[in-house]
Amino acid sequence: MRFSIATLALWASSAAATQASPPIRNIYTFPPNHFIENIAVRSNSRLLITSMSVPHLYSINPLISAPAADVVHTFASPSNATGISGIAEIAPDVFAVVVADWDLFATRAIPGTLAVWTVDFTKPAAQRVKFVAQIANSTIFNGIARHPTNPRLLLAADSAAGAVWRVDLVTGASSVAFSSPLLAPTETAHLGINGLKAQGSYLYFTNSAQGFLGKVAVDFNGNKVGAIEVLSEAADAGADVVYDDIALDLNNGQGRVWVASHPSYAIGVKLPGANQLVVNNTTKLLNPTACAWGRGSRKQKNTLYVTNGGEFLADFTLVNEGVVAIEL
Ligand SMILES: *[C@@H]1O[C@H](CO)[C@@H](O)[C@H](O)[C@H]1NC(C)=O
Ligand SMILES: *[C@@H]1O[C@H](CO)[C@@H](O)[C@H](O)[C@H]1NC(C)=O
Ligand SMILES: *[C@@H]1O[C@H](CO)[C@@H](O)[C@H](O)[C@H]1NC(C)=O
Ligand SMILES: *[C@@H]1O[C@H](CO)[C@@H](O)[C@H](O)[C@H]1NC(C)=O
Repeated sequence: MRFSIATLALWASSAAATQASPPIRNIYTFPPNHFIENIAVRSNSRLLITSMSVPHLYSINPLISAPAADVVHTFASPSNATGISGIAEIAPDVFAVVVADWDLFATRAIPGTLAVWTVDFTKPAAQRVKFVAQIANSTIFNGIARHPTNPRLLLAADSAAGAVWRVDLVTGASSVAFSSPLLAPTETAHLGINGLKAQGSYLYFTNSAQGFLGKVAVDFNGNKVGAIEVLSEAADAGADVVYDDIALDLNNGQGRVWVASHPSYAIGVKLPGANQLVVNNTTKLLNPTACAWGRGSRKQKNTLYVTNGGEFLADFTLVNEGVVAIEL
C-alpha cells in the first residue's frame, strides 16, 4: 500500500494504542438477517461478499454511488447450504468459498455439510461454479487462504478443532495440516483460529477466543515449520476488543496487519513491534467481521473495505449488516 504524507505523519506519532478517525463511508447495507461474514476483492475492483445466513455469493461495485448487491451464485442446490463463510482468491479471478448448512447460534456446520467450491470468473456464468470437496470431519472452515507458493493447496482455519487444514484443489483430498493449543477455542468462546492470510512463507492468523494475532511458517505441503509466534494481543488495543478476520499490508513481513474487530474497530497492527493503530467508530463499524484492500486504482489500493456483521435489536433481528470503506 501507498500512504499519504498525512497518514504517515499520524502513524509516526502513534504510541502504544493510538486513536485515529479516518473517513468511513457506507458502501452497502443489506436487509435484516444477513449476517455478513467475509470479503474478497476482484482485480476489477468488485467486492465479493459472503453471508453465513444466506447461501448467496454477492458482488458489489464500490466504484459507483448506491451500488446493488448482485447475486453471483446461490449454493442452496444441489447441496442444502444455508450460508457461506470463507472466501479466497486461488488463481487470477478464481475464488474458493466454504459453504455449509450452518447452525448459526453454535457457529458450526451441521456435521457432513461443509464443502469447498470454486467460482471461476474467467469462465461463462454457466460453467463458473465447481465442487471441490466435502469436508466430512470439520464443522467449520472460517478464514481460508491459498498456500503462498503451492497453487494446488487451499489452507483453512478450523475454529472448532484448533487446526489448519489443507485441501488439494485438484483432487479434493483434505487433511489436517497441523493443530495446536494456540489455534484452539476456549471453554467460554467457541471460535479459535479465525482469520487466515498467507504471504511469503508465513500464515498470519487471529485466534478470536484467545485474543491474539499470530504467525507461523509453513512448508510447501502446508506443514508447520517452527513455533507459532504471537504478534499482538487484542487486550492491548482495548479491553473489549475481539479480533476477527485480517487483511495484510506487509512487505517482507513489515508493515501492518489490519484486523476487523468487534464491537466497533479496525486495528492496524504494525510489524515489527505490534504498535496498534485503533480506528474506533461505533456508528460506522458494527461488529466488523473481515476486511480487504481495494484493487485497481491507487485510491482503491488505499481503501480498506470492512464488512459489518451487524447489530441485534432487542427481538434478535440483525440489522445494519454490510460493507464500509475506510480511506487510509
Ligand atoms: C465515525 O465515522 C463517521 C464517518 O467518517 C464520522 O462522521 C464520525 O465522526 C466518526 N465517529 C467517530 C467517533 O470517530
Ligand atoms: C438435502 O436435504 C434433503 C432433505 O433433508 C436430503 O434428502 C438430501 O440428501 C440433502 N442433499 C444433500 C446434497 O445433502
Ligand atoms: C475422519 O476422521 C476419522 C478419525 O480420525 C478417520 O478415520 C476418517 O478417515 C476421516 N474421514 C475423512 C473423510 O477424512
Ligand atoms: C471506543 O468507543 C466507544 C464509544 O465511545 C468507547 O466506549 C470505547 O471505550 C472505545 N474503545 C477504546 C479502546 O477506546
